[in-house]
Amino acid sequence: MVFSYFIAPLLLAVPILGSTSSANPPGLCRALPEDITFKSNPDLPNPFAFFDGHPVESQTQWNCRREEISQLFQRFELGTLPPRPESVNGSFSNGVLTVNAAEGANSISFQVQISKPANGTAPFPAVIAIGGSSLPIPSDVSVITFNNNDIALQNDQSSRGVGKFFQLYGTNHSAGALIAWTWGISRIIDVLEMTEGHNIDVKRLGVTGCSRNGKGAYVAGAFEPRIALTLVQESGSGGAGCWRISDHMLNFQNITTQTASEIVQENVWFSENFNPFVNNVTLLPFDHHMLAGLVAPRGLLVIDNTGIDWLGPESVWGCQTTGRLIYDALGVSSSMGVTQEGNHAHCALPADQAPDVDAFITRFLKNQHANTTIVNTDGANNVGFVASDYVNWKVPRLH
Ligand SMILES: *[C@@H]1O[C@H](CO)[C@@H](O)[C@H](O)[C@H]1NC(C)=O
Ligand SMILES: *[C@@H]1O[C@H](CO)[C@@H](O)[C@H](O)[C@H]1NC(C)=O
Ligand SMILES: *[C@@H]1O[C@H](CO)[C@@H](O)[C@H](O)[C@H]1NC(C)=O
Ligand SMILES: *[C@@H]1O[C@H](CO)[C@@H](O)[C@H](O)[C@H]1NC(C)=O
Ligand SMILES: *[C@@H]1O[C@H](CO)[C@@H](O)[C@H](O)[C@H]1NC(C)=O
Ligand SMILES: *[C@@H]1O[C@H](CO)[C@@H](O)[C@H](O)[C@H]1NC(C)=O
Repeated sequence: MVFSYFIAPLLLAVPILGSTSSANPPGLCRALPEDITFKSNPDLPNPFAFFDGHPVESQTQWNCRREEISQLFQRFELGTLPPRPESVNGSFSNGVLTVNAAEGANSISFQVQISKPANGTAPFPAVIAIGGSSLPIPSDVSVITFNNNDIALQNDQSSRGVGKFFQLYGTNHSAGALIAWTWGISRIIDVLEMTEGHNIDVKRLGVTGCSRNGKGAYVAGAFEPRIALTLVQESGSGGAGCWRISDHMLNFQNITTQTASEIVQENVWFSENFNPFVNNVTLLPFDHHMLAGLVAPRGLLVIDNTGIDWLGPESVWGCQTTGRLIYDALGVSSSMGVTQEGNHAHCALPADQAPDVDAFITRFLKNQHANTTIVNTDGANNVGFVASDYVNWKVPRLH
Protein backbone atom coordinates (compact mmCIF):
# COMPACT_ATOMS: atom_id res chain seq x y z
CA MET A 1 0.00 0.00 0.00
CA VAL A 2 2.65 2.46 1.08
CA PHE A 3 4.76 1.41 -1.90
CA SER A 4 2.13 1.74 -4.60
CA TYR A 5 1.42 5.16 -3.10
CA PHE A 6 4.80 6.63 -3.86
CA ILE A 7 5.92 4.53 -6.78
CA ALA A 8 2.84 5.35 -8.80
CA PRO A 9 3.77 8.99 -9.42
CA LEU A 10 7.13 7.89 -10.78
CA LEU A 11 5.46 5.55 -13.23
CA LEU A 12 3.06 8.28 -14.22
CA ALA A 13 6.02 10.65 -14.63
CA VAL A 14 4.46 13.41 -12.59
CA PRO A 15 6.91 16.34 -12.58
CA ILE A 16 9.39 15.96 -9.74
CA LEU A 17 9.77 18.98 -7.53
CA GLY A 18 10.00 19.79 -3.86
CA SER A 19 7.44 19.19 -1.13
CA THR A 20 7.69 19.39 2.60
CA SER A 21 4.89 16.99 3.48
CA SER A 22 5.68 14.01 5.64
CA ALA A 23 2.80 12.12 3.96
CA ASN A 24 4.36 12.56 0.52
CA PRO A 25 8.03 11.68 0.16
CA PRO A 26 9.95 14.82 -0.82
CA GLY A 27 10.25 15.45 -4.52
CA LEU A 28 7.16 13.66 -5.75
CA CYS A 29 4.65 16.50 -5.82
CA ARG A 30 4.63 19.61 -7.99
CA ALA A 31 5.98 22.57 -6.06
CA LEU A 32 4.11 25.85 -6.01
CA PRO A 33 5.96 28.62 -7.80
CA GLU A 34 7.86 31.02 -5.54
CA ASP A 35 6.16 33.99 -7.17
CA ILE A 36 2.48 33.53 -7.68
CA THR A 37 0.39 35.55 -10.09
CA PHE A 38 -3.08 35.93 -8.64
CA LYS A 39 -6.09 35.85 -10.90
CA SER A 40 -9.55 36.89 -9.79
CA ASN A 41 -12.01 34.01 -9.53
CA PRO A 42 -15.42 34.80 -8.02
CA ASP A 43 -16.28 31.06 -7.86
CA LEU A 44 -15.12 28.67 -5.18
CA PRO A 45 -11.79 27.43 -6.63
CA ASN A 46 -11.66 23.89 -7.98
CA PRO A 47 -10.19 21.46 -5.42
CA PHE A 48 -9.68 18.93 -8.24
CA ALA A 49 -7.24 20.98 -10.32
CA PHE A 50 -3.67 21.76 -9.32
CA PHE A 51 -2.61 25.37 -9.06
CA ASP A 52 -1.07 25.05 -12.55
CA GLY A 53 -4.37 23.77 -13.94
CA HIS A 54 -3.59 20.06 -14.25
CA PRO A 55 -6.56 17.91 -13.25
CA VAL A 56 -6.54 15.74 -10.13
CA GLU A 57 -7.63 12.28 -11.24
CA SER A 58 -6.34 9.81 -8.66
CA GLN A 59 -5.86 9.41 -4.91
CA THR A 60 -2.12 9.76 -5.43
CA GLN A 61 -2.58 13.05 -7.23
CA TRP A 62 -5.03 14.17 -4.54
CA ASN A 63 -2.33 13.56 -1.91
CA CYS A 64 -0.14 16.06 -3.78
CA ARG A 65 -3.01 18.48 -4.30
CA ARG A 66 -3.79 18.25 -0.60
CA GLU A 67 -0.19 19.23 0.17
CA GLU A 68 -0.46 22.12 -2.28
CA ILE A 69 -3.64 23.34 -0.58
CA SER A 70 -1.90 23.11 2.79
CA GLN A 71 0.95 25.27 1.46
CA LEU A 72 -1.47 27.83 0.00
CA PHE A 73 -3.32 28.21 3.30
CA GLN A 74 -0.05 28.63 5.17
CA ARG A 75 1.51 31.12 2.73
CA PHE A 76 -1.45 33.41 2.18
CA GLU A 77 -3.79 33.09 5.15
CA LEU A 78 -2.71 31.22 8.28
CA GLY A 79 1.08 31.58 8.45
CA THR A 80 3.65 28.80 8.61
CA LEU A 81 3.09 25.78 10.84
CA PRO A 82 6.53 24.92 12.23
CA PRO A 83 7.49 21.23 12.41
CA ARG A 84 8.02 19.46 15.70
CA PRO A 85 10.68 21.46 17.57
CA GLU A 86 14.15 20.16 18.47
CA SER A 87 13.08 19.08 21.93
CA VAL A 88 9.65 18.00 23.15
CA ASN A 89 9.04 16.15 26.38
CA GLY A 90 6.71 16.21 29.36
CA SER A 91 4.97 14.32 32.09
CA PHE A 92 1.58 13.34 33.45
CA SER A 93 0.56 13.64 37.08
CA ASN A 94 -2.75 14.10 38.95
CA GLY A 95 -4.78 14.79 35.83
CA VAL A 96 -2.34 17.36 34.46
CA LEU A 97 -0.18 16.86 31.37
CA THR A 98 2.90 19.10 31.24
CA VAL A 99 4.37 19.87 27.82
CA ASN A 100 7.93 21.21 27.45
CA ALA A 101 9.27 22.36 24.10
CA ALA A 102 12.57 23.91 23.11
CA GLU A 103 14.01 25.34 19.90
CA GLY A 104 17.52 26.76 19.91
CA ALA A 105 17.99 28.87 23.03
CA ASN A 106 14.25 29.29 23.66
CA SER A 107 12.02 27.02 25.68
CA ILE A 108 8.43 27.03 26.91
CA SER A 109 6.23 24.88 29.10
CA PHE A 110 2.45 24.62 29.35
CA GLN A 111 -0.11 22.38 31.00
CA VAL A 112 -3.46 20.86 30.08
CA GLN A 113 -6.12 19.24 32.28
CA ILE A 114 -7.20 15.71 31.38
CA SER A 115 -10.54 14.59 32.83
CA LYS A 116 -11.04 11.03 34.01
CA PRO A 117 -14.25 9.65 32.46
CA ALA A 118 -16.92 8.53 34.93
CA ASN A 119 -17.82 5.59 32.70
CA GLY A 120 -16.16 3.24 30.26
CA THR A 121 -12.84 1.44 30.41
CA ALA A 122 -9.28 2.67 29.86
CA PRO A 123 -7.69 3.56 27.55
CA PHE A 124 -10.28 6.25 26.85
CA PRO A 125 -10.91 8.27 23.74
CA ALA A 126 -10.56 12.00 24.32
CA VAL A 127 -11.68 15.32 22.91
CA ILE A 128 -9.20 18.20 22.98
CA ALA A 129 -11.39 21.18 23.82
CA ILE A 130 -9.98 24.51 22.62
CA GLY A 131 -10.85 26.99 25.36
CA GLY A 132 -13.24 24.38 26.85
CA SER A 133 -16.09 22.41 25.28
CA SER A 134 -19.66 23.55 24.71
CA LEU A 135 -20.74 20.17 23.33
CA PRO A 136 -22.21 17.26 25.32
CA ILE A 137 -19.17 14.97 25.62
CA PRO A 138 -20.27 11.44 26.66
CA SER A 139 -19.35 10.21 30.13
CA ASP A 140 -16.98 7.57 28.69
CA VAL A 141 -14.89 10.09 26.75
CA SER A 142 -12.15 12.21 28.36
CA VAL A 143 -11.89 15.96 27.86
CA ILE A 144 -8.47 17.57 27.48
CA THR A 145 -8.88 21.29 28.17
CA PHE A 146 -6.49 23.42 26.13
CA ASN A 147 -5.91 27.03 27.19
CA ASN A 148 -5.19 28.26 23.68
CA ASN A 149 -4.83 31.91 24.72
CA ASP A 150 -1.69 30.91 26.62
CA ILE A 151 -0.11 29.76 23.32
CA ALA A 152 -1.33 32.67 21.16
CA LEU A 153 -3.39 35.50 22.63
CA GLN A 154 -6.57 36.63 20.84
CA ASN A 155 -7.81 39.80 22.55
CA ASP A 156 -7.54 42.21 19.62
CA GLN A 157 -4.91 43.49 17.19
CA SER A 158 -2.52 44.15 20.07
CA SER A 159 -2.29 40.37 20.59
CA ARG A 160 -0.09 39.95 17.49
CA GLY A 161 2.97 37.91 18.42
CA VAL A 162 1.89 37.44 22.06
CA GLY A 163 1.93 33.98 23.66
CA LYS A 164 4.23 31.02 24.27
CA PHE A 165 4.36 30.07 20.59
CA PHE A 166 6.00 33.43 19.90
CA GLN A 167 8.35 33.07 22.87
CA LEU A 168 9.68 30.01 21.06
CA TYR A 169 9.63 31.19 17.43
CA GLY A 170 9.96 34.97 17.76
CA THR A 171 7.36 37.73 17.84
CA ASN A 172 7.71 38.26 14.09
CA HIS A 173 6.81 34.69 13.14
CA SER A 174 4.23 34.61 10.33
CA ALA A 175 1.73 32.47 12.27
CA GLY A 176 -1.68 33.81 13.14
CA ALA A 177 -3.29 32.51 16.31
CA LEU A 178 -5.17 29.64 14.63
CA ILE A 179 -2.07 27.92 13.29
CA ALA A 180 -0.15 28.64 16.53
CA TRP A 181 -2.87 26.81 18.49
CA THR A 182 -2.60 23.91 16.05
CA TRP A 183 1.12 23.73 16.83
CA GLY A 184 0.27 23.58 20.56
CA ILE A 185 -2.24 20.78 20.02
CA SER A 186 0.35 18.80 18.08
CA ARG A 187 2.76 19.10 21.02
CA ILE A 188 0.05 17.85 23.42
CA ILE A 189 -0.33 14.78 21.20
CA ASP A 190 3.48 14.33 21.06
CA VAL A 191 3.58 14.20 24.86
CA LEU A 192 0.52 11.93 25.11
CA GLU A 193 2.42 9.54 22.81
CA MET A 194 5.54 9.55 24.97
CA THR A 195 4.06 9.41 28.49
CA GLU A 196 2.02 6.86 30.42
CA GLY A 197 -0.58 6.97 33.15
CA HIS A 198 -3.01 9.31 31.41
CA ASN A 199 -5.07 6.38 30.05
CA ILE A 200 -5.80 8.19 26.77
CA ASP A 201 -5.94 6.24 23.51
CA VAL A 202 -3.95 8.50 21.19
CA LYS A 203 -5.52 6.83 18.16
CA ARG A 204 -8.97 8.09 19.23
CA LEU A 205 -8.59 11.84 19.62
CA GLY A 206 -11.10 14.50 18.69
CA VAL A 207 -10.87 18.28 18.71
CA THR A 208 -13.60 20.83 19.33
CA GLY A 209 -14.11 24.54 19.88
CA CYS A 210 -16.91 27.03 19.40
CA SER A 211 -17.02 30.41 17.65
CA ARG A 212 -13.46 31.82 17.44
CA ASN A 213 -12.21 28.60 18.99
CA GLY A 214 -14.27 26.72 16.41
CA LYS A 215 -12.17 28.39 13.72
CA GLY A 216 -9.21 26.98 15.67
CA ALA A 217 -10.74 23.50 15.85
CA TYR A 218 -11.20 23.42 12.08
CA VAL A 219 -7.61 24.47 11.42
CA ALA A 220 -6.27 21.98 14.00
CA GLY A 221 -8.20 19.13 12.37
CA ALA A 222 -6.96 20.24 8.96
CA PHE A 223 -3.28 20.39 9.89
CA GLU A 224 -2.88 17.63 12.51
CA PRO A 225 -3.48 14.21 10.95
CA ARG A 226 -3.41 12.41 14.34
CA ILE A 227 -6.85 13.91 15.09
CA ALA A 228 -9.51 11.32 14.22
CA LEU A 229 -12.57 13.57 14.63
CA THR A 230 -12.97 17.32 14.13
CA LEU A 231 -16.06 18.92 15.69
CA VAL A 232 -16.40 22.53 14.48
CA GLN A 233 -19.10 24.46 16.35
CA GLU A 234 -20.53 27.79 15.15
CA SER A 235 -17.21 28.97 13.75
CA GLY A 236 -18.61 31.33 11.09
CA SER A 237 -16.46 33.19 8.58
CA GLY A 238 -12.79 32.32 8.86
CA GLY A 239 -13.79 28.84 10.01
CA ALA A 240 -16.52 26.96 8.18
CA GLY A 241 -17.61 29.99 6.11
CA CYS A 242 -16.08 30.82 2.73
CA TRP A 243 -14.61 34.32 2.28
CA ARG A 244 -16.23 34.74 -1.11
CA ILE A 245 -19.75 33.85 0.03
CA SER A 246 -19.48 35.99 3.18
CA ASP A 247 -18.40 39.01 1.10
CA HIS A 248 -21.32 38.42 -1.24
CA MET A 249 -23.79 38.24 1.66
CA LEU A 250 -22.58 41.58 3.02
CA ASN A 251 -22.06 43.43 -0.26
CA PHE A 252 -25.02 42.23 -2.29
CA GLN A 253 -27.57 40.89 0.19
CA ASN A 254 -27.05 43.48 2.93
CA ILE A 255 -26.69 40.76 5.57
CA THR A 256 -24.39 41.81 8.41
CA THR A 257 -21.90 38.99 8.15
CA GLN A 258 -18.29 38.86 9.27
CA THR A 259 -15.94 39.25 6.32
CA ALA A 260 -12.20 39.04 5.72
CA SER A 261 -11.81 42.82 5.77
CA GLU A 262 -13.50 43.02 9.19
CA ILE A 263 -11.83 39.98 10.70
CA VAL A 264 -8.24 41.19 10.34
CA GLN A 265 -9.13 44.40 12.12
CA GLU A 266 -10.89 42.57 14.91
CA ASN A 267 -8.20 40.08 15.88
CA VAL A 268 -4.99 38.19 15.08
CA TRP A 269 -6.42 34.83 14.08
CA PHE A 270 -4.79 35.06 10.66
CA SER A 271 -1.27 35.77 9.46
CA GLU A 272 -0.36 39.30 8.41
CA ASN A 273 0.29 37.64 5.02
CA PHE A 274 -3.48 37.55 4.61
CA ASN A 275 -3.88 41.35 4.75
CA PRO A 276 -3.32 42.01 1.02
CA PHE A 277 -6.29 39.77 0.19
CA VAL A 278 -8.96 40.96 2.57
CA ASN A 279 -10.45 43.47 0.12
CA ASN A 280 -9.85 41.12 -2.81
CA VAL A 281 -10.81 37.66 -1.64
CA THR A 282 -11.58 36.53 -5.19
CA LEU A 283 -7.80 36.56 -5.77
CA LEU A 284 -7.23 33.78 -3.25
CA PRO A 285 -6.44 30.51 -5.05
CA PHE A 286 -8.38 28.67 -2.32
CA ASP A 287 -11.31 29.15 0.02
CA HIS A 288 -12.54 27.40 3.13
CA HIS A 289 -14.37 24.56 1.36
CA MET A 290 -10.83 23.24 0.90
CA LEU A 291 -10.27 23.01 4.66
CA ALA A 292 -12.63 20.02 4.49
CA GLY A 293 -10.23 18.51 1.96
CA LEU A 294 -7.38 18.81 4.44
CA VAL A 295 -9.38 16.98 7.12
CA ALA A 296 -10.57 14.27 4.71
CA PRO A 297 -10.84 11.32 4.89
CA ARG A 298 -11.00 11.67 8.69
CA GLY A 299 -14.22 12.37 10.60
CA LEU A 300 -15.58 15.94 10.41
CA LEU A 301 -18.82 17.42 11.71
CA VAL A 302 -19.63 21.07 11.06
CA ILE A 303 -22.24 22.24 13.56
CA ASP A 304 -23.77 25.61 12.79
CA ASN A 305 -26.47 28.13 13.65
CA THR A 306 -28.87 29.52 11.05
CA GLY A 307 -30.10 32.18 13.47
CA ILE A 308 -27.01 34.42 13.69
CA ASP A 309 -26.29 36.53 10.59
CA TRP A 310 -22.79 37.40 11.78
CA LEU A 311 -21.81 33.73 11.38
CA GLY A 312 -22.88 33.81 7.73
CA PRO A 313 -25.34 30.87 7.67
CA GLU A 314 -25.53 30.82 3.86
CA SER A 315 -21.75 31.05 3.65
CA VAL A 316 -21.22 28.15 6.05
CA TRP A 317 -23.84 25.95 4.41
CA GLY A 318 -22.64 26.66 0.88
CA CYS A 319 -18.99 26.38 1.79
CA GLN A 320 -19.27 23.12 3.68
CA THR A 321 -21.71 21.31 1.41
CA THR A 322 -19.20 22.20 -1.34
CA GLY A 323 -16.33 20.95 0.85
CA ARG A 324 -18.19 17.69 1.32
CA LEU A 325 -17.86 17.08 -2.44
CA ILE A 326 -14.21 16.26 -1.68
CA TYR A 327 -15.39 13.50 0.68
CA ASP A 328 -17.67 12.33 -2.15
CA ALA A 329 -14.70 12.20 -4.54
CA LEU A 330 -12.75 10.11 -2.03
CA GLY A 331 -15.70 7.73 -1.56
CA VAL A 332 -16.15 8.59 2.13
CA SER A 333 -19.18 10.92 2.03
CA SER A 334 -20.57 9.82 5.39
CA SER A 335 -17.34 10.79 7.19
CA MET A 336 -18.32 14.46 6.88
CA GLY A 337 -21.54 15.93 8.24
CA VAL A 338 -23.07 19.39 8.21
CA THR A 339 -25.83 20.25 10.68
CA GLN A 340 -27.35 23.70 10.94
CA GLU A 341 -30.17 24.90 13.17
CA GLY A 342 -31.37 28.24 14.51
CA ASN A 343 -33.42 29.49 17.48
CA HIS A 344 -30.79 29.08 20.14
CA ALA A 345 -28.04 31.12 21.76
CA HIS A 346 -24.54 31.14 20.27
CA CYS A 347 -22.64 27.98 21.28
CA ALA A 348 -25.67 26.48 23.08
CA LEU A 349 -26.19 23.20 21.21
CA PRO A 350 -29.93 22.59 20.76
CA ALA A 351 -31.36 19.16 21.66
CA ASP A 352 -32.06 18.39 17.98
CA GLN A 353 -28.36 18.56 17.10
CA ALA A 354 -27.15 16.46 20.06
CA PRO A 355 -27.77 13.13 18.23
CA ASP A 356 -25.65 14.38 15.31
CA VAL A 357 -22.71 15.05 17.62
CA ASP A 358 -23.26 11.73 19.36
CA ALA A 359 -23.28 9.80 16.07
CA PHE A 360 -19.89 11.23 15.04
CA ILE A 361 -18.36 10.59 18.49
CA THR A 362 -19.76 7.04 18.52
CA ARG A 363 -18.32 6.20 15.12
CA PHE A 364 -14.99 8.01 15.16
CA LEU A 365 -13.99 8.02 18.86
CA LYS A 366 -15.71 4.90 20.19
CA ASN A 367 -15.24 2.92 16.96
CA GLN A 368 -18.86 1.74 17.13
CA HIS A 369 -21.48 1.71 14.44
CA ALA A 370 -23.47 4.91 13.91
CA ASN A 371 -25.18 6.49 10.93
CA THR A 372 -23.20 9.64 10.18
CA THR A 373 -24.95 10.53 6.92
CA ILE A 374 -26.00 13.95 8.24
CA VAL A 375 -26.47 16.97 5.96
CA ASN A 376 -29.24 19.09 7.45
CA THR A 377 -30.26 22.72 7.66
CA ASP A 378 -33.46 24.33 8.89
CA GLY A 379 -32.75 27.31 6.61
CA ALA A 380 -35.24 27.68 3.77
CA ASN A 381 -34.01 26.97 0.21
CA ASN A 382 -30.55 25.87 1.35
CA VAL A 383 -30.25 29.14 3.28
CA GLY A 384 -30.26 30.90 -0.10
CA PHE A 385 -27.18 29.09 -1.43
CA VAL A 386 -27.32 28.12 -5.11
CA ALA A 387 -24.41 25.81 -5.90
CA SER A 388 -24.31 26.72 -9.60
CA ASP A 389 -23.49 30.33 -8.61
CA TYR A 390 -20.21 29.21 -7.03
CA VAL A 391 -19.28 25.75 -8.31
CA ASN A 392 -18.29 25.45 -11.97
CA TRP A 393 -16.31 22.20 -11.71
CA LYS A 394 -17.15 18.50 -11.67
CA VAL A 395 -16.44 15.99 -8.94
CA PRO A 396 -14.19 13.12 -10.07
CA ARG A 397 -14.15 9.70 -8.40
CA LEU A 398 -10.62 9.40 -7.04
CA HIS A 399 -9.25 5.85 -6.77
C1 LIG B 1 13.02 18.25 28.20
O1 LIG B 1 12.98 19.41 27.39
C2 LIG B 1 13.69 20.49 27.92
C3 LIG B 1 13.50 21.65 27.01
O2 LIG B 1 12.14 21.94 26.85
C4 LIG B 1 15.15 20.13 28.04
O3 LIG B 1 15.84 21.22 28.65
C5 LIG B 1 15.31 18.89 28.86
O4 LIG B 1 16.65 18.48 28.84
C6 LIG B 1 14.46 17.78 28.33
N1 LIG B 1 14.50 16.64 29.23
C7 LIG B 1 14.72 15.43 28.81
C8 LIG B 1 14.73 14.37 29.86
O5 LIG B 1 14.93 15.16 27.65
C1 LIG C 1 -22.64 5.90 33.09
O1 LIG C 1 -23.34 5.16 32.09
C2 LIG C 1 -24.63 4.73 32.50
C3 LIG C 1 -25.16 3.82 31.41
O2 LIG C 1 -25.02 4.40 30.15
C4 LIG C 1 -25.51 5.94 32.75
O3 LIG C 1 -26.78 5.55 33.16
C5 LIG C 1 -24.85 6.81 33.81
O4 LIG C 1 -25.59 8.00 33.95
C6 LIG C 1 -23.44 7.14 33.43
N1 LIG C 1 -22.78 7.84 34.52
C7 LIG C 1 -22.39 9.09 34.40
C8 LIG C 1 -21.68 9.63 35.60
O5 LIG C 1 -22.56 9.75 33.40
C1 LIG D 1 10.35 42.32 13.98
O1 LIG D 1 10.06 43.13 12.85
C2 LIG D 1 10.20 44.51 13.10
C3 LIG D 1 9.69 45.28 11.92
O2 LIG D 1 10.19 44.74 10.74
C4 LIG D 1 11.66 44.81 13.43
O3 LIG D 1 11.82 46.16 13.72
C5 LIG D 1 12.08 43.98 14.62
O4 LIG D 1 13.46 44.13 14.85
C6 LIG D 1 11.79 42.49 14.39
N1 LIG D 1 12.01 41.78 15.64
C7 LIG D 1 12.68 40.65 15.68
C8 LIG D 1 12.83 40.02 17.03
O5 LIG D 1 13.18 40.13 14.69
C1 LIG E 1 -29.17 47.51 4.49
O1 LIG E 1 -29.64 47.28 5.82
C2 LIG E 1 -29.64 48.42 6.63
C3 LIG E 1 -29.97 48.00 8.05
O2 LIG E 1 -31.04 47.12 8.05
C4 LIG E 1 -30.62 49.45 6.06
O3 LIG E 1 -30.59 50.61 6.85
C5 LIG E 1 -30.19 49.79 4.63
O4 LIG E 1 -31.13 50.64 4.03
C6 LIG E 1 -30.05 48.54 3.81
N1 LIG E 1 -29.46 48.87 2.51
C7 LIG E 1 -29.89 48.36 1.37
C8 LIG E 1 -29.14 48.79 0.14
O5 LIG E 1 -30.78 47.55 1.32
C1 LIG F 1 -7.93 45.11 -4.20
O1 LIG F 1 -8.81 45.87 -3.41
C2 LIG F 1 -8.56 47.25 -3.39
C3 LIG F 1 -9.46 47.88 -2.36
O2 LIG F 1 -10.79 47.49 -2.54
C4 LIG F 1 -8.74 47.78 -4.81
O3 LIG F 1 -8.47 49.17 -4.83
C5 LIG F 1 -7.77 47.06 -5.73
O4 LIG F 1 -7.99 47.46 -7.05
C6 LIG F 1 -7.94 45.56 -5.65
N1 LIG F 1 -6.87 44.90 -6.37
C7 LIG F 1 -7.10 43.97 -7.27
C8 LIG F 1 -5.89 43.40 -7.92
O5 LIG F 1 -8.20 43.57 -7.55
C1 LIG G 1 -28.61 7.06 7.50
O1 LIG G 1 -29.29 8.29 7.62
C2 LIG G 1 -29.67 8.84 6.37
C3 LIG G 1 -30.23 10.24 6.64
O2 LIG G 1 -31.22 10.20 7.61
C4 LIG G 1 -30.67 7.93 5.70
O3 LIG G 1 -31.05 8.45 4.45
C5 LIG G 1 -30.03 6.56 5.51
O4 LIG G 1 -30.97 5.66 5.00
C6 LIG G 1 -29.49 6.03 6.80
N1 LIG G 1 -28.69 4.84 6.53
C7 LIG G 1 -28.86 3.71 7.19
C8 LIG G 1 -27.98 2.59 6.78
O5 LIG G 1 -29.70 3.59 8.07
